[in-house]
Amino acid sequence: MIGNWLDIGPINQIEAGTARTLPVQGGEEIAVFHTLCGEFFALVNKCPHKQGPLSQGIVHGDVVTCPLHNWNISLRNGKALGEDEGCVPTIPLKVDAGRLYLLRSAVIGGGEAGARAA
Ligand code: FES
Repeated sequence: MIGNWLDIGPINQIEAGTARTLPVQGGEEIAVFHTLCGEFFALVNKCPHKQGPLSQGIVHGDVVTCPLHNWNISLRNGKALGEDEGCVPTIPLKVDAGRLYLLRSAVIGGGEAGARAA
């Protein structure tokens, strides 16, 4: 079972209200967020607007505000909120015994792995 999940380390490596990035070989960098309420979310680290690094945004509730042009992105589903339109892929994440796990197929099979033009 555990083979389906990728162990990315202890939960206490990410301070509440911040995010850490996780490089993915041949795929998109992932941002793992820890909200002030103690929830964790993983998204591709690219704003759906102009690919701003969401990991450097401000986390409030279950939303991150992009550092570039202040779009608000839902951490739950990756969708831009308000009048903005766009969506960034989310990666299933689970917490087990104080450690974080990402769904392996979502990280490695990420869709465009190895086939990116730029
Ligand atoms: S790149 Fe994120 S709001 Fe423009």
